[in-house]
Amino acid sequence: MPDNPQVVLKITDLVKSFDSTKVLKGINLTVGHREVTVIIGPSGCGKSTLLRCLNGLEPIDSGQIELNGQLITAPGTNWSAIRQKIGMVFQNYELFPHLNVIDNILLGPVKVQGRPRQEAIIDAQSWLDRVGLKDRALSFPRQLSGGQKQRVAIVRALCMSPQIMLFDEVTASLDPEMVREVLDVMLNLAKGGLTMLIVTHEMAFARAVADRIIFMDDGHIVETAQPEAFFNNPETERARRFLNIFQFQELERRRA
Ligand SMILES: Nc1ncnc2c1ncn2[C@@H]1O[C@H](COP(=O)(O)OP(=O)(O)O)[C@@H](O)[C@H]1O
Ligand SMILES: [Mg+2]
Repeated sequence: MPDNPQVVLKITDLVKSFDSTKVLKGINLTVGHREVTVIIGPSGCGKSTLLRCLNGLEPIDSGQIELNGQLITAPGTNWSAIRQKIGMVFQNYELFPHLNVIDNILLGPVKVQGRPRQEAIIDAQSWLDRVGLKDRALSFPRQLSGGQKQRVAIVRALCMSPQIMLFDEVTASLDPEMVREVLDVMLNLAKGGLTMLIVTHEMAFARAVADRIIFMDDGHIVETAQPEAFFNNPETERARRFLNIFQFQELERRRA
């Protein structure tokens, strides 16, 4: 469990619709400093929309989001400033194809944050070492595997020194042999005390990395639990059904 009760992210009664369809139906969630929260739930239940609302990629209908005590859903929020404090990594890494790894990473800290280039390079190289990409600083994205690109995307977000990192199914489009290398990086970040909010379909990883599991269905948080309790004995019928279907699909996949 987190050793520091400081609240990094506080979401209160968050409601979000697309046209007349309510997609988030009143989300309440608090993430503590150094806490790793994993969100799971069926496809279409609103997980990506929730993460997108947190850094202003989707306007919300009602509710509040606070980041380290600052109300970021107030009118006139400077989202480009907020996004520097909330790192986000998506399923599809969006590295600039014409820039090498180090220049992709430096865009944020140097161009956006105005940090000295030399200092930012040292920081970037140290992160690249830690994710197993020591010798890749001068490679171009086309020369990297999917797993390597996704690790660069993680480093790029980390180099902004975010207060929290959001991960949305970052291994979903990777070949199976590359999933592990990316999940290992995230496990190490968790051990290092990074505050993270992770959406994943990798159940073994969720169980290993999470301080807390959030189960979402149909725009609601249905269940909040410790990972062992959740996976061994989910409280709600909906979570039980979800986990059963998941185990079945996993068996099918292995048989195929
Ligand atoms: N930009 C959009 N416009 C309209 N509907 C959307 C948009 N984005 C997501 N939705 C809908 O919102 C619901 C939740 O989507 P999403 O947050 O992507 O779910 P999840 O990430 O849990 O699979 C889905 O029904 C989806 O079709
Ligand atoms: Mg999604």
